[in-house]
Amino acid sequence: MLEVDSIAMTFGGVTALDGVSFSVGEGEVVGVIGPNGSGKSTLINVMSGFYRPTGGEVRLGGTVISGRSPEAIRRAGMARTFQNLRLVEEMTVLDNTLAGMYLVATGGRWLTPSWMAEVAGAVGARRRAREMRASAQDALGKVGLGDKLAFTVGALSYADQKRLELARAIALRPRVLVLDEPTAGMSVEDADTLVRMVASLVETGAQALSLFLVEHRLELVLEVSDRVVVMDGGRLVADGEPASVAADPRVRSIYVGGE
Ligand SMILES: Nc1ncnc2c1ncn2[C@@H]1O[C@H](COP(=O)(O)OP(=O)(O)O)[C@@H](O)[C@H]1O
Ligand SMILES: [Mg+2]
Repeated sequence: MLEVDSIAMTFGGVTALDGVSFSVGEGEVVGVIGPNGSGKSTLINVMSGFYRPTGGEVRLGGTVISGRSPEAIRRAGMARTFQNLRLVEEMTVLDNTLAGMYLVATGGRWLTPSWMAEVAGAVGARRRAREMRASAQDALGKVGLGDKLAFTVGALSYADQKRLELARAIALRPRVLVLDEPTAGMSVEDADTLVRMVASLVETGAQALSLFLVEHRLELVLEVSDRVVVMDGGRLVADGEPASVAADPRVRSIYVGGE
């Protein structure tokens, strides 16, 4: 499904990624752990087209996607969230979710809510608009925002804003869902619930075919992942089943007394 092949990324003199290779199979949940600064967000930025790698390539379903725009990669079936939120504060929860969907439908042009109806008409699709709304509402229900559709984003708690970002991504029904620390700032209990919910969406094939999840809580990652990759200093230092990764001496040395 997704292949990351010998990816390198340097910024000026800083090497953020150094020959990173791994794959994510169809239906697989791959968890990513590693200390701060180990390159996790940079890797996601490369995979999703926000950075052009200085070496290597990324393939999705056999097609090279590295070097393409974020919008093109989204249309190819990858949806992501950001470690730092990217929401429109003045808009409602439902409109933020719909805006993400229209952005894909229109090839990346950002639209204000009043324009959305016109575009829905322009693509000839009341039905399509209804389907989008249903998909948005369904995604918002799954993350626990079903009763806050008309809330303005600025009025939401930080945890609810994180939930909304996740809903925006899953509403696109991507082939690969890429999440960068989706639970940062949440209580342990809320974080557990949310991550288990997303993993179950993938396991049941309900809303995404594969999941690539950066999450700093090792226990949770080991619980929900089919495979775990470990980053350290811009390199991939372990890749395997949760039990073997947990027992890996390099992983233990990173996490003993660590985060
Ligand atoms: N746009 C950038 N310009 C310069 N350096 C960057 C940029 N993005 C990331 N880096 C550097 O790359 C390294 C990895 O950062 P990052 O991918 O954010 O790590 P993580 O997400 O694992 O905490 C850090 O040294 C960081 O300073
Ligand atoms: Mg990061």
